Amino acid sequence: MIKNNSNSKIIISPSILSADFTNLERDIKSIEAAGADWVHIDVMDGHFVPNITIGIPVVKSIRKITDLPLDVHLMIENPDKYVDDFIRAGADILTIHYEAGVNSVSMNTEDLLNKIKSYGVKAGLSIKPKTPPEEIKKYISIADLILVMTVEPGFGGQKFMPECAEKLPYIKSLQKEGQYLQVDGGINTETAKNCIEKGANSLVAGNYIFNNKDRKSAILSLR
Ligand code: DX5
Ligand code: ZN
Repeated sequence: MIKNNSNSKIIISPSILSADFTNLERDIKSIEAAGADWVHIDVMDGHFVPNITIGIPVVKSIRKITDLPLDVHLMIENPDKYVDDFIRAGADILTIHYEAGVNSVSMNTEDLLNKIKSYGVKAGLSIKPKTPPEEIKKYISIADLILVMTVEPGFGGQKFMPECAEKLPYIKSLQKEGQYLQVDGGINTETAKNCIEKGANSLVAGNYIFNNKDRKSAILSLR
């Protein structure tokens, strides 16, 4: 079940891609103490994106050390092959990429979102900067979360692309109460404000939070 660490409607999900991997437990505890709502985990396969990061065993280990919801962002090809493993590992929110497709004869993107939901896990659908939001119109009512990438997925520390935030009002207008509209990439106080004004209610931030000595203030300032 998704519990929030605060009463705020803006969910802050620090991306551990910017954490110190030799001290991951310490860093996760620090964002927990600083008031983070979720823990954002970026999974990259070197195919869908040109980088390789975290896999199933790491998600499983993180599950043991925090009660915060694990917000798992799958930047991988053939996500249908791996959703069961990530759910068993402890994902609470599982986001797949629209552009990754679903490579199964018996399943399409809609089926996969419904499958994730059938486990009691929140199902997210993400779009890359060049994908128009109209392309995912039919999934907006099905997905619990829509993730609008505000940088090209693959790396932390990139510059926010303001044109991506222009997609938010359209998606927001089709969402119902209780659905999440998340942004990810280049989020700081200035870009967060822009995204919140356009309808985002969940912010992913890596560098801005982990490179800040005072992580509590960093999280507060984003909200
Ligand atoms: C990029 C990842 C992001 C990334 C965000 O592909 O999905 O979650 O870690 O990092 P910042 O906030 O540093 O742009
Ligand atoms: Zn991410």
